[in-house]
Amino acid sequence: MKSRISGFYKLLPEQRLNKIASLLELSEEEKKIFTGEEGFTVKQADRMIENVIGYLPIPLGIAANFKVDGEDVFVPMATEEPSVVAAASHAAKLTYDTGGFTTSYSGSIMRGQIQVTSMVDTYGALARIYENKEEIIELCNAQDPTLVAFGGGAKDLDVHVVQGESEKMLVVHLLIDTKDAMGANAVNTMAEAVSPLIEEITEGKVVVRILSNLADQRIVRARATFEDPFQGNQTTMKKFMSANHLAVADPYRAATHNKGIMNGVSAVVLATGNDTRAVEAGAHAYASISGKYSSLTRWELKGENTLVGTIELPLAVGLVGGATQSHPVAKLATKILNVKTAQQLAGIIASTGLAQNFAAIKALAGEGIQKGHMKLHARNMASVAGAPDDQIDQVVEHAVKEQRFGFHDMKHFVELLRNNDPNK
Ligand code: MEV
Repeated sequence: MKSRISGFYKLLPEQRLNKIASLLELSEEEKKIFTGEEGFTVKQADRMIENVIGYLPIPLGIAANFKVDGEDVFVPMATEEPSVVAAASHAAKLTYDTGGFTTSYSGSIMRGQIQVTSMVDTYGALARIYENKEEIIELCNAQDPTLVAFGGGAKDLDVHVVQGESEKMLVVHLLIDTKDAMGANAVNTMAEAVSPLIEEITEGKVVVRILSNLADQRIVRARATFEDPFQGNQTTMKKFMSANHLAVADPYRAATHNKGIMNGVSAVVLATGNDTRAVEAGAHAYASISGKYSSLTRWELKGENTLVGTIELPLAVGLVGGATQSHPVAKLATKILNVKTAQQLAGIIASTGLAQNFAAIKALAGEGIQKGHMKLHARNMASVAGAPDDQIDQVVEHAVKEQRFGFHDMKHFVELLRNNDPNK
């Protein structure tokens, strides 16, 4: 299967779905889940959260042209933001012929934190925790025999001394391999279960016991080469590198640069029913792991025209548990990705983030982001301004021609077309 489909963006939604369905052998029932004719119900929503009155549909697009670790893949992205899917597809196309994205994974180790307070001998307590490590780990693993059977479970622990405002505390970190689950439930269950034992060992009082979203032992890296992406234009290349250097050095720019990366990352995380907030918290915390908030990507020039991009971030995502399986659209999104492990999913998500970043910097180094963005945004605005479906394209044409995209401009174009409509 090839993920490169020329003119995919020109098709109608139904034609795109049919194309993907035929390539990935989706059934008629599965197609109806994507279009909303079947699938997600209020009843299901009511089982997922509290006080449900309905649900919020978000557009689901497919980024084309991705090749990750030698495999072509269509990337489902759920986002309300125009330009994001187009930008990812564009960047993926530019690196496709040089091999696409290559990824690596540190493993699925999550940290469960147990905060211990009110000890008389903090360092003595720390030593006693290490002395009783085997018993603590055993008790953790007794909570989740299924995870242990799959090769996961608590593997180790470390203990941190933290100076609080009024006392010295210990924080025990349980290091738990959550395998193909995001792992919050497994980690939190273990952390809560061993807390009485920790209190006994330390003669202290446990307060917080929960996972850390700074998943620094669940790191994904992706790399891609862009061969002459600006057709020899050295001015654009210099601007690209300069924008990249600013993001590395300046936290104000890094926040926006990383937001652009997360446009891609979060869209795939959401499409697959994973926890966007967990991933975002982890990514931004990791971006400041050196003590100074910086970029999650690095761009390097090899020779004059070859750009090598890399991304490194924690990704606590899974394929089992939570909404990943209970939400029919998320389940199908995973089917489209054709991934069997959390590692593969994380590799694709990191690649999407890197692609997104390339496209954003390219736009910033060139004509700016507004030209392309406003054109896509205009469709939305035209509809809000009252354009009937069959006139949206004409309204957008007017807006692009005159470079006027305000709400009142759109209303004006809608009026103009209405007044010129021979059938009115
Ligand atoms: C907009 O959603 C994302 C960008 O601001 C990212 C960036 O500036 O790198 C375009």
